[in-house]
Amino acid sequence: MAAQAEPKTVPAAASRESVTLHDNSTGKQLDLPLLSPTLGNKVVDIRKLHSGLDYFTFDPGYTATGSCESKITFIDGDKGVLLYRGYPIEELAEHSDFMETAYLLLYGELPTAKQRVDFVGAITRHTMVHEQLTTFYRGFRRDAHPMAVMCGVVGALSAFYHDSTDISDPQQRLIASYRLIAKMPTMAAMAFKYSLGQPFVFPQNRLSYAENFLRMAFAVPAEEYKISPVLAKAMDRIFILHADHEQNASTSTVRLAGSSGANPFACIAAGIASLWGPAHGGANEAVLKMLHEIGDKKRIPEFIKRAKDKDDPFRLMGFGHRVYKNYDPRAKVMQRTCREVLDELGVHDDPILALAMELERIALSDDYFIERKLYPNVDFYSGIILKAMGFPTAMFTVLFAIARTVGWVAQWNEMIEDPDQKIGRPRQLYTGAPQRAYVPVDKRK
Ligand code: SDX
Repeated sequence: MAAQAEPKTVPAAASRESVTLHDNSTGKQLDLPLLSPTLGNKVVDIRKLHSGLDYFTFDPGYTATGSCESKITFIDGDKGVLLYRGYPIEELAEHSDFMETAYLLLYGELPTAKQRVDFVGAITRHTMVHEQLTTFYRGFRRDAHPMAVMCGVVGALSAFYHDSTDISDPQQRLIASYRLIAKMPTMAAMAFKYSLGQPFVFPQNRLSYAENFLRMAFAVPAEEYKISPVLAKAMDRIFILHADHEQNASTSTVRLAGSSGANPFACIAAGIASLWGPAHGGANEAVLKMLHEIGDKKRIPEFIKRAKDKDDPFRLMGFGHRVYKNYDPRAKVMQRTCREVLDELGVHDDPILALAMELERIALSDDYFIERKLYPNVDFYSGIILKAMGFPTAMFTVLFAIARTVGWVAQWNEMIEDPDQKIGRPRQLYTGAPQRAYVPVDKRK
């Protein structure tokens, strides 16, 4: 993003180091540059592999493939470290707030007091949605999944703002970015209200981002809504924890959609669609369903057995991660926040939390999980908090999407500003039919 404060960056050094590929079938060899990061693994630059050896690489699920250079977020999966622009997530969760973290992710530096005031003021002035947008909600059944509604209405935003879709113009990218960040809580709360058959609640610009969202979600016209500072702080912290996470599935979706020059609002709608999956952002909803299905500590061994059974598609939801092979640092903060919220709500012996903690204890002492380095991830505790705050499970991933919109927008801007950026177009290993002639229907067997 055209930075208000130039981020202090360390360019990915294209060092003279290289790796040499020897092709035993042709005797050819090829030197490929080794690029050095600020933190983490070096990467082999394979861009010359096809022209040099006429080969592609093959890596379903991109388990060992870097799709881009980025300065935004870094994860050390072995150590359980998560940094936003170099700042540990634990410190941001403790000392920062979501708007400051949003500025950091977008611009690369923590804002000065004036930059913060200007940024929050700019976001706040975009919290309302076009009145025509409300009609899109009425096309859905009241029992539609709110993520289905969000896919639809966020996609519909692409039809509203023709003054901010020239993505080559930094100013238009900025206004589109601010609109997305500002309007997601409003649209999410509208999806929740619509499912309840309650009237939409307008944003109040005197409130903080998290306070505004809680009020739009839970206030009713018939009475004053009293904001709990503890719940607002917990909501704000949950937003910080979910804001960005390197090139996860939904962020990669936004980058790939954006790489064709697509409308920014449509790109974010694509990210929402990807986040919805139970293997990704939908896991928080799936964790609650799983805990309710387990129901009693006595049944935990039965479900642990199922999770280990290759013939059973059941997995322990909220456990495991493509990158973290240690405890997800967000899960630790989430567990602490869980206790604060339950205390605030006067819930002292929540059976679902007790069940989750017992499940975690048993799983973390089981060889299957230890050998595979499967630990609780961000989704394991989040659902318990959100349920206690009054959100139905179907809303959990919507809350994830509110927060992740900041990361998606920051990564989308970084992708467009990247001088090496080109349309994403992966290759494949084709194992289908060789070329063959058309067979008229009367000749087919
Ligand atoms: C998020 O990418 C991100 O950064 C995502 C995210 C973000 O902030 O954007 O962090 C948010 O999506 C968190 C993850 C939420 N998903 C879940 O909690 C769903 C349950 N977890 C699994 O589906 C799984 O762990 C994944 C999808 C998260 C990761 O899968 P991988 O990296 O493809 O790992 P894998 O399937 O290759 O698993 C390795 C082994 C396998 O066993 P083996 O074949 O080696 O014998 O571990 C097993 C898996 O069967 N395994 C599990 C398991 N997760 C992995 N076994 C039981 N229960 C699990 N949860």
